[in-house]
Amino acid sequence: MTKTILRALAGETQAVPPIWMMRQAGRYLPEYRATREQAGDFLSLCYNPELAAEVTLQPIRRYGFDAAILFADILLLPQALGLDLWFVKGEGPRLSTVTSAEDFRALKPVHAIDDTLSPVYETVKILSRELPSETTLIGFAGAPWTVATYMIAGRGTPDQGPAHALKDGNREVFEQLLGKITEGTIEYLSRQIDAGAEAVKIFDSWAGSLKGEDFDRYVVEPARIITEALKRRHPGVPVIAFPRQAGEKYVGFHGATGADCVAVDDSVSAAWVAEHVQPAGCVQGNLASSHMVTGGEDLVRETRAIVEALRGGPHIFNLGHGITPDADPENVALMIETVRSMG
Ligand code: CP3
Repeated sequence: MTKTILRALAGETQAVPPIWMMRQAGRYLPEYRATREQAGDFLSLCYNPELAAEVTLQPIRRYGFDAAILFADILLLPQALGLDLWFVKGEGPRLSTVTSAEDFRALKPVHAIDDTLSPVYETVKILSRELPSETTLIGFAGAPWTVATYMIAGRGTPDQGPAHALKDGNREVFEQLLGKITEGTIEYLSRQIDAGAEAVKIFDSWAGSLKGEDFDRYVVEPARIITEALKRRHPGVPVIAFPRQAGEKYVGFHGATGADCVAVDDSVSAAWVAEHVQPAGCVQGNLASSHMVTGGEDLVRETRAIVEALRGGPHIFNLGHGITPDADPENVALMIETVRSMG
């Protein structure tokens, strides 16, 4: 196996960790902004296979990352299930909501998602033809809890209040919704794999707002069900789980879900991850994305410290969360150069 990302996901410790970056195709790149302009808007870009493949390739050409992540969004699945979706400039996503049994019943059946999502599979097909042979193609979806927080609130929320309110106020509808998203996610990721995705990542950006038993039921359990179903259908295709801000709950996450890799955010130290999480398998992370804005000595020192701390086991270098639009593209180059000079 020559692809370094797949080797890390298979549990191999490498002298230099392979590297990619969350939101590597995005607004910090002038070439991304130009292509989005050409597409018209963000959603048109997501559903235009030629242009979505183009923006996926841009950071690979510019930096030579070891993985490309499909250009799409976690909110395309709710749209495919029948919700309205639009983006308000400078604010973020808006959706029609699911807060009652009636709203839930109005959702489309899971098998209907491909009617909406087939352009995404087409993007994957183009990418699997066009990517350099050493670059791994990663597909992705949102985790059920995180996707549900947007479907229930109709927008991003600082504390996921509306989703907690439905969970505590109408657990039956809440659990039906999570179950449906779980099924839809299995279908969506499975089709990405059929089209050529070589690994998949499940983004649970709001995992940290669930505690105790709720975390086990609504973060761990859906991740386990999705991973198990994918492994049955596509043996050998690795799964990366990202239960962001899970804290202590990162410990044991590989074992509880069957994920091949657990991605960690930067609220935990790399030394702690090396001691408590990495013994169970590959880890991915976890440079604070603010270094992509500030750069300099601090960036170099922190990058080295993370590589050093995690070099005893399988590691994929990444940020702790997505790169932000105000990042300097030069700092991304400095991060990659720093990682690759450590062999
Ligand atoms: O990582 C990549 O480069 C691949 C593409 C990707 C996007 N979104 C493109 C995008 C991925 C993997 C995502 C995941 C995603 N989308 C998550 C989970 C990861 C995370 O960041 O926590 C979430 C919560 C979303 C939902 C979403 N999409 C929000 C809240 C927003 C608005 C905030 C923002 O950054 O503007 C988006 C828009 C979005 N998704 C953009 C991109 C490049 C910016 C849209 C634009 O170009 O204007």
